[in-house]
Amino acid sequence: MFHNSGPPKFSVILVGILVALIGLFSLVNQISALDNGLARTPPMGWLSWERFRCNTDCDGDPENCISERLFRTMTDLVVSEGYAQAGYSYINVDDCWLEKSRGPQGQLVADRKRFPSGMKALSDYVHARGLKFGIYQDFGNYTCAGYPGIIGYSHLDARLFADWNVDYVKLDGCYSLPIDMDIGYPEFGRLLNSTGRPMVYSCSWPVYQIYAGITPNYASIIQHCNLWRNFDDIQDSWASVESIIDYYGNNQDAIAPNAGPGHWNDPDMLIIGNYGLSYEQSKTQFALWAILAAPLLMSVDLRTIRPEYKAILQNRKIIAVDQDPLGIQGRRIYKHKGIEIWSRPIAPIYQTYYSYAVAFVNRRSDGTPSDVAVTLRELGLTSPTGYRVEDLYEDVDYGVLSPQTKIKVKVNPSGVVILRADVQPERFSRAPFNPLTYFRTKK
Ligand SMILES: *[C@@H]1O[C@H](CO)[C@@H](O)[C@H](O)[C@H]1NC(C)=O
Ligand SMILES: *[C@@H]1O[C@H](CO)[C@@H](O)[C@H](O)[C@H]1NC(C)=O
Repeated sequence: MFHNSGPPKFSVILVGILVALIGLFSLVNQISALDNGLARTPPMGWLSWERFRCNTDCDGDPENCISERLFRTMTDLVVSEGYAQAGYSYINVDDCWLEKSRGPQGQLVADRKRFPSGMKALSDYVHARGLKFGIYQDFGNYTCAGYPGIIGYSHLDARLFADWNVDYVKLDGCYSLPIDMDIGYPEFGRLLNSTGRPMVYSCSWPVYQIYAGITPNYASIIQHCNLWRNFDDIQDSWASVESIIDYYGNNQDAIAPNAGPGHWNDPDMLIIGNYGLSYEQSKTQFALWAILAAPLLMSVDLRTIRPEYKAILQNRKIIAVDQDPLGIQGRRIYKHKGIEIWSRPIAPIYQTYYSYAVAFVNRRSDGTPSDVAVTLRELGLTSPTGYRVEDLYEDVDYGVLSPQTKIKVKVNPSGVVILRADVQPERFSRAPFNPLTYFRTKK
């Protein structure tokens, strides 16, 4: 157990091993991957599950039940409240949209009471507002909530989704045999493909296999899915977010290299703006999801979200890190006494040097901010031309720093500081280049 009195001061000393680890980032992903032209950056949107679950009580709770009314309302808010402009484009239905049994020809039927206009009409509604439409099904006999799954009807379901102009299909894994997934998930992917309609394919293949003690074949998963869940469903608590952070950190050697344009690890939804996370913790979830190149799927009531949480979800600088075109998933590069440092290589690249997003996370709860001091070199930022460094939550511009420069950040308990360091193309000079000063002093 670690005891201390007063605020801890961490002078972070990172050894050469870390710099070597960073070298792993530059491994180019040579494995052949799903090529349906979709999800070249991690998908962004709104998904009903974490916040609205399987509330089917439209008599008692008409505002919050899973219904066309809820999805239309959220569609409107994604547009009117600026989320669409920030990059959120998918409106995704999750479980509990179906009737309990299929129609006379075996077709899926949306719940007649809660979706009286039908799914095609909802899809049209979403498209008419410039967004994309996602739907949920299950690889097994039933969805997780007990509605009809695809077994025996996969051709029909894939065709129906295409007829409804669906843009994104999440295929869950309840009521199925994980051993069948190596064949079944690719098969449904081929069915989606053969409809001719491009649909993002979200798989739950690895997580169910891991639960069953099977080591997932990520080489195959990358080839057939645009994104996939590796770990537990997120719940509305900091403990849940921490367990996910730990899973992705502890298993990063197996997981991180699988991410890239068109194929992403999915640590599950953003729960920012709900009941379980403080402001600091919400900032931490958003920053780390960006480092992880994670899909950004909000699951929150956009009618009642407080402005400070909305601002986190619309932080353009952090979204830009998440959506970085190189698509390299970041890693945890330091972990000691509750302080973690996570780092993600991003564009631009100069010569052999990447730019980076770096997140300092304080997992401690001893009530006072922790200082973290580290040189850029210790973080693996070694370009002699230097880096332009800025804070992505606070309005702080550090200017251009050399690898020897020691930066010091104060990280709040369960909070984060996230920086962006853009490698400079020219040998750095002390002050950032400012054309006004330049021309003034040049005379
Ligand atoms: C799905 O249902 C069929 C028919 O009842 C049954 O034979 C099969 O074992 C079930 N599959 C799974 C994975 O539960
Ligand atoms: C189907 O797969 C082929 C081969 O990977 C790909 O070129 C094409 O874009 C895919 N089409 C759709 C609709 O996903």
